[in-house]
Amino acid sequence: MKISLRVNGIEEEADCWEGESLLFALREKLGYPGAKNACEQGECGSCSVLLDGSLVCACLVLAAQADGHDVLTVEGLATDGALHPVQEAFVEAGAVQCGFCTPGLVVAAAELLRQNPDPSDDEVREALSGNLCRCTGYAKIFDAVRLAAERI
Ligand code: FES
Ligand code: FES
Repeated sequence: MKISLRVNGIEEEADCWEGESLLFALREKLGYPGAKNACEQGECGSCSVLLDGSLVCACLVLAAQADGHDVLTVEGLATDGALHPVQEAFVEAGAVQCGFCTPGLVVAAAELLRQNPDPSDDEVREALSGNLCRCTGYAKIFDAVRLAAERI
């Protein structure tokens, strides 16, 4: 089947089979490798994208479900070559080690701050609770979100 969708504001088309995930279509068919495939079971959040503005695990969404819809990936957060404040803050705070979790965390954190520019620590923890990181211990990630919130 052929699907048409907008990815980061760009009209895209892909040939997919009925059971194909949005994550696979993004990474393997459409050239958006930012969302990562770590578990493919909805457990880790490394594949987080926005589907019509809602945070989803792209591994749990069928590509067919995105037909006719808007998808925002981590590649779409930068504007005119300038990093999103959350991306900058992750770099500056040292919140990236292996980086596998980073795209999903950045998408989730950017969406949190869009909805709530001044979140409490508990709200940050709740918003990022679906994103697992095996490297950082989370402290630097929370530092990065606080830094981005100050700037936003
Ligand atoms: S790869 Fe989708 S939640 Fe882990
Ligand atoms: S930086 Fe390695 S999993 Fe988060």
